[in-house]
Amino acid sequence: MGKSQAAAVEEAPIGKNGASKKRVGEPEAETKLKGEEAIRELPGVGPATGDKLIEAGYDELMTVAVASPSEIAELCEIGEAVAAKIIAEARKIADVGGFRTGSNLLDLRKTIQRLTTSSKALDELLGGGLESQSITEAAAEFGSGKTQIGLQLCVNATLPPEKGGLGCEVVFIDSENTFRPERVAQIAQAAGLDPKETLDKIHVARAFNSAHQIMLVEKAHELAKEHPIKLLIVDSLTSHFRAEYVGRGTLANRQSKLNTHMHELLEFATVHNAIVYVTNQVHARPDAFFGDPNKPIGGHIVGHASTYRLYLRKGKAGKRVARLIDSPNLPEGECVFAVDEKGVHD
Ligand code: GTP
Ligand code: MG
Repeated sequence: MGKSQAAAVEEAPIGKNGASKKRVGEPEAETKLKGEEAIRELPGVGPATGDKLIEAGYDELMTVAVASPSEIAELCEIGEAVAAKIIAEARKIADVGGFRTGSNLLDLRKTIQRLTTSSKALDELLGGGLESQSITEAAAEFGSGKTQIGLQLCVNATLPPEKGGLGCEVVFIDSENTFRPERVAQIAQAAGLDPKETLDKIHVARAFNSAHQIMLVEKAHELAKEHPIKLLIVDSLTSHFRAEYVGRGTLANRQSKLNTHMHELLEFATVHNAIVYVTNQVHARPDAFFGDPNKPIGGHIVGHASTYRLYLRKGKAGKRVARLIDSPNLPEGECVFAVDEKGVHD
């Protein structure tokens, strides 16, 4: 998937070959199939394949459309060519991939939602807050405010849209055991919200290792069926990967797993029109003679999959500096924000 992929889930009009065959006077509902039914109707999907797909959680056309042929082939015990055909059919209907006109894309971008960070300067740097259908990464060394931004976003997401929120619930995947409900309650109170009500809308899971972390994204899809999840946070994205894959021989394997993980996160953002916020540590580059010696973990795999990459550093007197790097549509820039008892602000 491309960096600025912006495809929304659309209800699929289906005939046998994916075309809508609406007759005059026929009610709209009869020509539209959704979810599981639409998947079962895909050319190439027999009853057994349909069952396997649905059991494995492929219950929206979009989830099939963005899958890889090898993934589907293995799952359904079918050939990769057949799997590729099924995916292609799902893409036709779910309307992802291929060429689109600019104005068509502009329409899709109109469905994008934004979430405030509570700092005007930081929101402006990001073009109006964090954006749905994409991944925003905050990379920095320890104590820079990555987690604090995450906790603030949890609270803000529950706010109504007119207050910069999404009126939604949140999934927080915590790999470092740094989620603190007391801290969320404190930030919620400062925002004039009921702490208990806010905490009830945040679903937290500890990730015990990288495989567990990857699996939790699947769980998040399940949760999103019953709760309006529009914000998914992974704090931290890379720490387990970094700890588990040590040594040169393991790098390719680590990068490939991280790549899959990032794509599954982007898939979540696309399917649910959700915001994904991930944190990342930096490591010192031994070969840096000038400039900033720190580099985000995960190299270009993480950098490429993140639509927006924020680089944070500690400034003087409790201030933090955020720099936007590597954005598809915004100029690089810097801003200053602060973190205190109340949370994030200018
Ligand atoms: P690592 O996860 O260790 O890599 O760091 P991080 O970037 O996630 O740091 P985090 O977001 O946890 O920021 C920690 C900093 O936030 C602290 O050093 C404090 O400056 C600030 N902070 C956290 N909680 C509070 C609080 O309750 N009150 C105040 N005043 N500041 C806080
Ligand atoms: Mg942290």
